[in-house]
Parts: sequence; C-alpha cells; structure tokens
Amino acid sequence: MSPFSRVLSTFFALIIVLFFLINTTTISSSLFTKINAFSHFLATFHGKNNHHYSSNDQTDQPNLSLRRSTWRNPFIAFKGINDISPSSVFTKKNISRAISPDIAKCGPVELPPNAITLPYCCPILPSPLKIIDFKEFAKPNAPLRVRKPIHLLDDEYMAKLEKGIAIMKSLPENDPRNYIQQAKVHCVYCNGGYPQKPPFQNLKIDIHRSWLFYPFHRWYIYFFERILGNLIGDPNFAVPYWSWDSIEGMQMPKYFANPNSSLYHHLRDPRHLPPYIVDLNYHVNAESTTQDQQVKYNLAFMYKQMVLADTKEVFMGGVYRHGDQAQPAIGSVELAPHNTVHKWVGRADLPSQEDMGTFYTAARDPIFYPHHSNLDRLWGIWTSLDGGRKDYRDDQDWLDSEFFFYDENLNLVRVNIRDSLDTKKLGYVYEEVELPWLNASPKPSRSKLQRQEKKASLLASSQDPMTTTITKFPLVLDSKVSVVVNRPKKLRSKLEKEREEEVLVMEIVDLHSDKDVKFDVHVDDDEEMLSGPDKAEFVGTFTSVPHGSHKSKTKYLVAISKVLEILEAEEDENIVVTLAPIVGKGLVSIGSIMVEYIPK
Ligand code: C2O
Repeated sequence: MSPFSRVLSTFFALIIVLFFLINTTTISSSLFTKINAFSHFLATFHGKNNHHYSSNDQTDQPNLSLRRSTWRNPFIAFKGINDISPSSVFTKKNISRAISPDIAKCGPVELPPNAITLPYCCPILPSPLKIIDFKEFAKPNAPLRVRKPIHLLDDEYMAKLEKGIAIMKSLPENDPRNYIQQAKVHCVYCNGGYPQKPPFQNLKIDIHRSWLFYPFHRWYIYFFERILGNLIGDPNFAVPYWSWDSIEGMQMPKYFANPNSSLYHHLRDPRHLPPYIVDLNYHVNAESTTQDQQVKYNLAFMYKQMVLADTKEVFMGGVYRHGDQAQPAIGSVELAPHNTVHKWVGRADLPSQEDMGTFYTAARDPIFYPHHSNLDRLWGIWTSLDGGRKDYRDDQDWLDSEFFFYDENLNLVRVNIRDSLDTKKLGYVYEEVELPWLNASPKPSRSKLQRQEKKASLLASSQDPMTTTITKFPLVLDSKVSVVVNRPKKLRSKLEKEREEEVLVMEIVDLHSDKDVKFDVHVDDDEEMLSGPDKAEFVGTFTSVPHGSHKSKTKYLVAISKVLEILEAEEDENIVVTLAPIVGKGLVSIGSIMVEYIPK
C-alpha cells in the first residue's frame, strides 16, 4: 500500500467507526439519550448541521415534506435562485403561504456586537427526526388551569413556580426541558435561527413585528407551563401573570427580587426593584416622576395601546406570509408596554440591556414568563373589547402558520395558529381583574383655540417658500421634526368611522437593529412644548428591542380616529405630525408617512 492509500483507508475506517458510534447510541437507548448523543454530535459539528441534514431532506422528514407536497413542486424550478419575489411564485390563489420554519436548516443566530452568549440557539433535534402534530386539546370537562396575577397569589403558590424553575435549571444542559434550552427556543425564533422553506430559504424568520407575535408567544408559554407543571408533579399549575397594567401590579413582583429565589436574576436594572413603579413608556434616559404621576401615565398609555388601537393591523402587527420579508409592521402593545418593560427590566449599563432588554437573552430571566403571560392575557382582552374586535382569523395563511416546541414528554410537537385561538381548548383561562385603564381616555393638553393658532401658523410657514425646507424622505430622525400630512378624507360619517379606522402609517427604514432606539409621535402638538404620555396629542412611541446587527425596516401604525375627535380636528385637511427622537438619535429614518383608512 502506498502511503497515500494508507492515509485514505485510515480515514474511511474512522468514518465507519463514527457512523457506528452514532447509530448504536440511537438504537440502544431511550429517546432522551438519543437526543443527548445527537446534540453532542451537533455541538461538535456546529455550523455543519445544515449539511448533515440537507442530504436527508426528503427521506428523513416525511412529516415535513408530505404536508407540503401538494404545493412544493412549483418551487423546484426556482431552487437556488436568489431574490425570488413571492408574486412570481405564488400565482395561484389557493396555494398556502403560511409561514413555517425549516427546522432542519437551523443555523447560528444573528447577535449584536459585544453579545454575551454564543450564537447557537438551535434546539436539539431527535434523530431520526420525529414530529408529532399537536392534538392534545383539553378534555371538555377537565379542570382549567387558571392563570392569576402575581399580586393576588400567596407564597405557597409562588413556591411552586420557584421549584419548577429550579428543577429546569438543574436539568442536564441538553435536555430540551432545561431552563437555558427553553430560553434558546425564544432566541432561535427571534434572532433569525430558522430560514423560511424553499424557495425563500434566504429569508430568516422572525416572530416579532408581525401577526405571529401573539400566537407564537402563546404557544411558547403554553409548553413552558406544561413542562413546568410536569416537573413539579402538578399538571394544573398555571404560569401567573405580571399585571403591570393594574395598579397593584405596577412594580416588579417581590418574589423576583429575592436573591435566594430561583426567580431572581442578576442581569437586571438594580434601580428598578420593588417598590419602584414601572414606566410603561420607559427609555434609558427617562427621569423618574412621582409615583402618582407614573400610575396616571401608565393607565393613559394602556388606554392608547389597547382601546385606541382598534384594528388588527395596528394592534397585532402586520401580515407576514411565506416569501415575505420579516418584520412587516409592529403592533401597538408589542411596542409598548412589551418592548418598554423588556428594557425597563434589563441592565441599562450593558450594551443591549441584557438579559431582558434584548431578545437573544430575554427568556433567560424568569420574569420573562409572567411578562408574556400578561401579554397573552391582553391579547384575549383586546379581542373582546367593543363587543368583539376582528383579528386575522379569516386568513388561512395566518391560521396555518406553524411553530415547533418540545412538550413535557420530550416529543417535538408541530403546532399552528388555528389551534391556539381558544385558550380553553388549550386548558387554561385568566383570572379576570379590574382594568383600570379602560376609562383612561386622554384629554388634550391645550384649548381648541390654542391648538388652532399653533397649527395655522405652522401651516402658513410651511407654505411660505422663504421659511420652509421641504421634508425629504427618507427622513433621518436626528432631531425633532414636524411634518404636515394630508388627510384624504375629512369629516367622515359615524358609519364610516365605525367601519374604518384612520391610521397614521409610518415606514421605518434604516433602523439600526443593534441599537436602542425610541422616538415619540405627536399629532397637532406644540413642538416647543410637547405633551406627556397621558395627553391626547402624544399618540404613540416607537421603541425597538435590539435584534441583531443588520439594519432593518418595518412599519409603525397609529390609530388616530378617536384622537382627532378629541382634538376637534376632524374637519381639518391636514394634521401636523411631530416626531421626537428620544434615544438613538439618527439611528432610524422615516421612509414615508401618510394617513390611510383601514377596515376594522
Ligand atoms: Cu419574543 Cu417579549 O419577546
């Protein structure tokens, strides 16, 4: 044998041994050790796992490909071509365009610079890949798990949560029920670990800033709850909610601030421990105000984000289908209080306000779960406001959108949005508490006369060629700016207003995803003396939670029908929109800004 062929045969022998090692573990052990062995394999060859899977793409995943086979064929011709537009692919109407992550193609996530963890959030997959479709609806007469606000719970109940989280933290690192593994599930769906299915494999999935936001997090907390209940031997255990929208809940729940508890987390802003009142409109430079004033701000703020946001696009986020770019439009409550509370909890002195202040680490803080339990509750409340508001449930693509989670028995389960809509079918409900914000309708800060004078002088100067600089888009938000926006319809009838919401639509471009950015939006306000968050002129805030390192774009929608009514501006041809950068000046631009009428 020549030295070359000796090297070659040793190499092949090694491959065979490796192959055997993996296979014997697979055959001779329980599912769990299989997962362990496989994860070890993946960990060793991380980055190559795409390759490992692609050879099995068709054969190893009957579940994955079969369900799609009816509409998969047209894609083959496009394979490998970049920048395919959805319209060139989806020519037929009845083809599903539901989003479904290609879990076998999971890759490293995109992290901000100076990230404090590695970019590997992919869950360990069982080998061979076995996926179960979700069917475990609650039995009609079974007791429901009741999620309660933490401020109404006793030590005994909270001890169960503590115990469950302590057990999760103690499980082996590669057990899917392990605490960090759970946090990584959130990371992988938020920071671009999963590509879309072909032919759009170049597009990464993001469950924020779109209509996936509420259903994804509902499923995520649902499985977390099942795992936790199973680990403490109480299948009726329900993840409590942190009701930062009720007056008693407006501080960090004390259980989370006890350094001896598993609910404690070291990466939090030490200034915000109880009894400090949460600021639902928080930003890093916020000055603290009196407690009473803060509560007032918070309630008015909640009213705007929940009651005034009365169309699905404004409240839930934008339509997001297979083939679409991620982050089409962000919902009102997702912006704030969701993003703002994330940042309020995280450490202000870390570059991305880790852990809660950025998505790749957020779910490592135990307070993430009650925070999202509350958001899930607010989704349900929003749907029932005004005698029932319309969400996306007529849209098949929304209903068919899919996610994957491990259950308490270590099964990998595929779920869709359709099955998430009725929480009773998932076996849980929320204990209702008062909604103190429900009547906190904002008042104008000035009289009608003052507003009109201000507006008239602004409009006059905007028509004077000597003093005006024409607003050019994209508009870099590096300082306060007021823009005159035309209203295509004025003095709409009552019926028109009932049917359509008047919406201020802002295209957000060049958003530096790795940076903290916040700007406030005011309508018919005084640029020199902008109104506070409890006033009608303050219509909303755009605030970002750092996502990755690229520049991104999205849309920001604000419902203004009611605001224009309060400001007595319904007859006006224009509105004056003032954009006030608060944090991250110059790190975001506005691509366009206009008024649209969106059916309710
Ligand atoms: Cu997926 Cu509160 O974040």
